[in-house]
Amino acid sequence: MAGYEVSLERTATRWKQKLRKFFGPWGVFFQGFLEHPVMVGSIIPSSRFTIRKMLGPVDWGRCRLFVEYGPGVGTFCRPVLDKLRRDGTLIVIDTNKLFIDYLNRTISDSRFIAVHGSAKDVEEIIRAHGHDQADYILSGLPFSTLPEGLGPCIAAATHRAIRPGGAFLTYQFSKSAQNLTEQYFDRVDSGFELLNILPCRLAWGWKDTE
Ligand SMILES: C[S@@+](CC[C@H](N)C(=O)[O-])C[C@H]1O[C@@H](n2cnc3c(N)ncnc32)[C@H](O)[C@@H]1O
Repeated sequence: MAGYEVSLERTATRWKQKLRKFFGPWGVFFQGFLEHPVMVGSIIPSSRFTIRKMLGPVDWGRCRLFVEYGPGVGTFCRPVLDKLRRDGTLIVIDTNKLFIDYLNRTISDSRFIAVHGSAKDVEEIIRAHGHDQADYILSGLPFSTLPEGLGPCIAAATHRAIRPGGAFLTYQFSKSAQNLTEQYFDRVDSGFELLNILPCRLAWGWKDTE
């Protein structure tokens, strides 16, 4: 590599670090969006109104394993950990290593496990951490922009991975997550949150039987 290219790369790295420090989690999230716009699918993390509404129906007393797909910079992780039982576990799965490294650096809670991987491998991931099934799975995945065929594959694996009585929770600007949930789950409740950039659709897919 030529000398000026090395120096250009160093300057870019320094600027990324400065931006991250200045904007905190939002800076990291925006950097993740710039690097993988299709996989991240949004430039701003979810609002606290979305978080509150999405987690509203969760029965925390019965929740031993909560899984989250696409945690980004952990917008949902902290509220989930605040409510999770002391003997519960939160496993988060994200394909973006930048986000997983950030979460491992900033969340120190013995109930928290951050996995660099894909939601489609949820069954193997939870098994590798000693669980047969999850009570709830939350998804922030941009289903409408995922590669062809990946959405249905994730929805089917999610249905198998959730115990009867549990639920699949999704929030998305478009209706694709809800449409997929309706194909795999017994009952689906839906909602809408205006106070989010952009306003988003919420869905709770309930698994009644195996
Ligand atoms: C819209 S962001 C969600 C951000 C965050 N949950 C929030 O509410 O602010 C979508 C996230 O999904 C991740 N992602 C995309 N495809 C994935 C996959 N197949 N498995 C796991 N994570 C994935 C992206 O890296 C990104 O972190």
